[in-house]
Amino acid sequence: MDAASARLSRPLTYHVTTFGCQMNANDSEKLSGILEVMGYEYTETEDADFVIYNTCTVRENADLKVYGRLGRLNGYKKKNPGMVIGLCGCMMQQPEVVEKIKKNYPFVDLVFGTHNISDFAALTEKALDDNVMTVSLLDGDNSGLIEDLPRKRKFVFKSGVNIMYGCNNFCTYCIVPYVRGREYSRTPGDIIEEIKRLSDDGVKEIMLLGQNVNSYGKTLDEPVSFASLLRRAEEIDGIERIRFMTSHPKDLSDELIETMASSEKICDHLHLPLQSGSTEILRKMNRRYTKESYLELAGKIREAMPDISLTTDIIVGFPGETEEDFAETLDVVDRVGFDSAFTFLYSKRTGTPAATMEKQVSEDVMHERFDRLLELVHERATERSGRLTGRTMKVLVEETNREPGLVTGRLSNNFTVHLEGDESLIGQIVDVELTECRGFYYFGKLK
Ligand code: SAH
Ligand code: SF4
Ligand code: F3S
Repeated sequence: MDAASARLSRPLTYHVTTFGCQMNANDSEKLSGILEVMGYEYTETEDADFVIYNTCTVRENADLKVYGRLGRLNGYKKKNPGMVIGLCGCMMQQPEVVEKIKKNYPFVDLVFGTHNISDFAALTEKALDDNVMTVSLLDGDNSGLIEDLPRKRKFVFKSGVNIMYGCNNFCTYCIVPYVRGREYSRTPGDIIEEIKRLSDDGVKEIMLLGQNVNSYGKTLDEPVSFASLLRRAEEIDGIERIRFMTSHPKDLSDELIETMASSEKICDHLHLPLQSGSTEILRKMNRRYTKESYLELAGKIREAMPDISLTTDIIVGFPGETEEDFAETLDVVDRVGFDSAFTFLYSKRTGTPAATMEKQVSEDVMHERFDRLLELVHERATERSGRLTGRTMKVLVEETNREPGLVTGRLSNNFTVHLEGDESLIGQIVDVELTECRGFYYFGKLK
């Protein structure tokens, strides 16, 4: 590497492009940290000496995006033959994907998966030495993951913290349990230590990450609840905001609701994926709750925390979804009034039980339902969105705005706020009067 840098008489550069969820974003910070220890310097563009795609495969579109962009990387590599192209993440955990990469994208230098990020430096050495594609993939055991990796955080004042890996829920449409392996919880001691280190390093907001944080700790030698982990995290000085993602409705406890309601630091936001409002479809999805139990839960949460922002994920067109089933989804959206919702067209993932279910819904019907759902989500969210106008609330300022003289931050409930200010405010939590709501963001005045 040093030789290559000397030959080019400039430092070598890297770029990590992240697809998919927060888990991947967190892994990308580790990849970036390792690359910097190896001597690479970050650059904004993919026209770099080392480019990594940290991939997602949750829907077919995610795969297509990666294949589409690989062609452009090859263009850069033709100009810069020493360039290293690496692929990792969830998509690579599937043997058929790796076969396709080997056959159609031979210019890729390195392929690895979700379980061997800690081998990244060694794999890179091998890829630099060998002239053939280096491929290293491990099966889904999360218990031996090495945690203590260098890390380059995107923001100094906020950070994700993995509290668990993998997923055991096997929702019938979902590929995640296959590519991320079995559920494994880190010990509370390790997690709290990591948060303390982050706090010492200037972090004010943490996001605890897991596919289903509500089942955190159940399989530990000394089982602990997610709510008790939150209470321990809250005691750490310097940490002012605690977020978490994602909550599965089937495991959300009264203890968690009480802990959130009585906490100063746990944010006023809950992402509670609904997926479908039809009890019959939920059964086929293996979600293990009903329309009624979801509505009851949402009601209980709103009662305990009237200001809370409730957001959700919804899939349209799961196999066998009838017009009546879809009407149940609309009914739940109408009754809960989500502050926002990620809506997805069902995407068939090979290897999942739903892929071979009968009565796959046609594209036309799916799109037509999707549009109707989006309209209702938007209508209900708009009704709720202005409710904080006139109040003074705390904003964590995150970045400067494209508009000169403005900065952008977030409320505890995750709403975006723009206000007048400069770079010196970044990373600070300030009191802001919310003067105007425009669509889904506020304008405010520093108090
Ligand atoms: N663990 C999280 C979800 C992770 S995947 C949870 O259980 O909530 C993020 C979202 O992608 C899911 O909530 C779901 O709405 C969507 N999704 C997953 N698989 C999908 C598929 N095959 N087609 C369409 N959307 C899907
Ligand atoms: Fe996928 Fe269900 Fe696990 Fe979420 S809980 S990652 S949707 S299998
Ligand atoms: Fe995608 Fe993997 Fe996350 S499949 S949604 S990046 S866990």
